[in-house]
Amino acid sequence: MKVLIVGANGMLGQAVSAEVLLAGISFESISSQELDICNVLETENLVSDVGADYVINCAAFTRVDDAEVEVDAAVRVNALGAENLARACKAAGSKLIHISTDYVFEGTGTTPYKESDVTKPLTVYGKSKLEGETRIIASGVDAYILRTAWLYGPGGKNFVTTMIDLAKRQGQISVVDDQIGQPTSTQQLAKGILSVLEVKPSFGIYNATCKGQTSWFHFAEYIFQALNFSDIDLIPVGSDRFVRPAARPGYSVLSSEKWMANNLRPFLEWELALTEFLKDNYGVSK
Ligand SMILES: NC(=O)c1ccc[n+]([C@@H]2O[C@H](COP(=O)([O-])OP(=O)(O)OC[C@H]3O[C@@H](n4cnc5c(N)ncnc54)[C@H](OP(=O)(O)O)[C@@H]3O)[C@@H](O)[C@H]2O)c1
Repeated sequence: MKVLIVGANGMLGQAVSAEVLLAGISFESISSQELDICNVLETENLVSDVGADYVINCAAFTRVDDAEVEVDAAVRVNALGAENLARACKAAGSKLIHISTDYVFEGTGTTPYKESDVTKPLTVYGKSKLEGETRIIASGVDAYILRTAWLYGPGGKNFVTTMIDLAKRQGQISVVDDQIGQPTSTQQLAKGILSVLEVKPSFGIYNATCKGQTSWFHFAEYIFQALNFSDIDLIPVGSDRFVRPAARPGYSVLSSEKWMANNLRPFLEWELALTEFLKDNYGVSK
């Protein structure tokens, strides 16, 4: 089996490259400098030249707030770029594994969203990612679309690194307590992607997040407890205290029912995955 990883220098791309290497699978990791998925011809040529069984798309425009003003750039990468890659895969006979997001949902639900639930993104980022999904499906390529959420991992800016940086600079930190989701480590998602390669379930959309659910506040609380940052005054606040350009869904927990029914590798509980990450990267032994 041969795998091509696109957007390989991003946070998830690095984790996927590491897991594929560990599994002994033949692969090529291609960074944004080596391939711009918005370039149709370059994308077609590279995907055809590599001739991979699977192309894993880790490339995306991920600056959620910036997307509200950089609309064209977000749509270009997340919708049109995703379609270019899908078409290139179809032409080359490669299967596509694409990553999408919980932000395709409005977030007014109270029970975990299933893959088939009605989407209603609140933001430009969410809309561009949903358009990417739609364009991939319309291309007719054999594809897995994995919706994940609240990603963190080494080699990228994320909530965990932001909290740690803040704690070094200030004694009091306010964190939103009314948005509920699933912190998911890039390592867990990368292992999940590998299980898709192994199990080969039917093509389609799959939720791919760590188990359990929490708020950003409790996520931060767990990080600081694990790191023994006991002198941080952590304050829970409502989203109305942190108005940002892009509105976040209030509740975006994704159901793992389909993932589990297909015998894919179970994700860890978010607390366990976070502990693993802190242990590996910060020497913590909670
Ligand atoms: N981060 C999260 O919390 C989260 C949550 C849910 C879903 N997701 C999804 O998970 C996936 C991985 O996210 P991530 O956190 O790993 O993002 P990331 O760290 O921002 O990585 C994205 C990568 O895509 C590259 N890229 C951007 N435009 C490109 C283009 N036109 N052609 C080729 N490469 C391009 C970027 O390169 P440059 O740095 O050079 O621009 C970067 O290396 C994305 O699909 C994202 O939408 C993320």
